[in-house]
Amino acid sequence: MLDKSVIGGERHTLADGTAIPVLGLGVWQVPDGGECERAVRWALDAGYRHIDTAQAYGNEGSVGRALRDSGVPREEVFITTKFYPARRDPVAEIEGSLRRLGVDQIDLYIIHWPQGGPTWAWPGMEAARERNYTRSIGVSNFSAEELEQVIAVANTPPAINQVQFSPFEYRRALLEACEARNVAVEAYSPLGTGRHLSDPTVARIAEGLGRTAAQVLLRWCLQRGTIVLPKSTHQERIEQNAQLFDFTLSDEDMATLDALDATAGTDIARERKWW
Ligand code: A2P
Repeated sequence: MLDKSVIGGERHTLADGTAIPVLGLGVWQVPDGGECERAVRWALDAGYRHIDTAQAYGNEGSVGRALRDSGVPREEVFITTKFYPARRDPVAEIEGSLRRLGVDQIDLYIIHWPQGGPTWAWPGMEAARERNYTRSIGVSNFSAEELEQVIAVANTPPAINQVQFSPFEYRRALLEACEARNVAVEAYSPLGTGRHLSDPTVARIAEGLGRTAAQVLLRWCLQRGTIVLPKSTHQERIEQNAQLFDFTLSDEDMATLDALDATAGTDIARERKWW
C-alpha cells in the first residue's frame, strides 16, 4: 500500500495558482445519507483529499457531514460543487451549497453543463469567486467552441473543464484545446460508469502489470494529464482506485489504450446531451 500522503499529495496547479489533488472521489448517483457519508469517509481515510459533488446530485449535506466527522482539517480537502444551470443565479445557488456543505468557501465551482448557452452564467460564477465563496471557477461538459465563447467574455477564465473522458472517450482535440488555453481537464466517468472494466484489451494490460482494470483506466487518465474522478461506494474499490502512484503505463500500453477511442478524437464534450 502507498503512503497515504502520496494519494492526496499529488497535485496539479491550475492557471489561477490553486493546487488541486489529481485524484478525487466522485459521488454522482450516490443518494444523500449513510451510503454517501460512508463513501466520503472511506475516501478521506484512504488518503483522498478531493471530493467532487454537485447541486444536482442532492448529496452535498452528506459530503459536508462526512468531512466534519472525519476530523480531517477543512483546508486539507479540495471540495468541488457544480452550479445547476436550470437555476438562474450562481451566487444564490452557491450560498445554498455552502450551507449544505457546512463550509465558508469551496475550492472549485463549475457550471454543470452549458444549458441555455455557454456564457450567460459566467458573470455570476465570477461574482461567486469575487465574494470568496470559491477559490476557483470552471465549467463542465463544454466543447472546445463553447470554451472559446466563455473565454471571450471572461474576466477570470475558467480554470477547469470537467468532461466524460477515458480511453474509450479520449476526445483528443478537446484535450488539446484545453491544454492550449491552460484549462485543466477533469475526467468524469473514467471507468465508463463501470462498462469499460470488462474490456479485454484493458484486462490484458492489467494482467500484465499485476493491476486491476480500474487502476489501468485511471492511470491512463493521469498520464494523459487529466485530473481523475472515479466513483465508488465500496471501501475496497475506493482504496484500490487510489493505488495509482506506484506504477506507470508504458508508451506502448498508452498507445494501445489510446486506440480504444470511439469519439474519433472529437473536440466536443457530449455525443448525447440531456439538456
Ligand atoms: P460501486 O459504486 O458499486 O463500487 P465511473 O467512475 O466511471 O463513474 O464508474 C463508477 C462505476 O464503477 C460504479 O458502478 C462503481 O461501482 C464501479 N467501480 C468503481 N471502482 C471500481 C473498481 N475498482 N472495481 C470494480 N468496479 C468499480
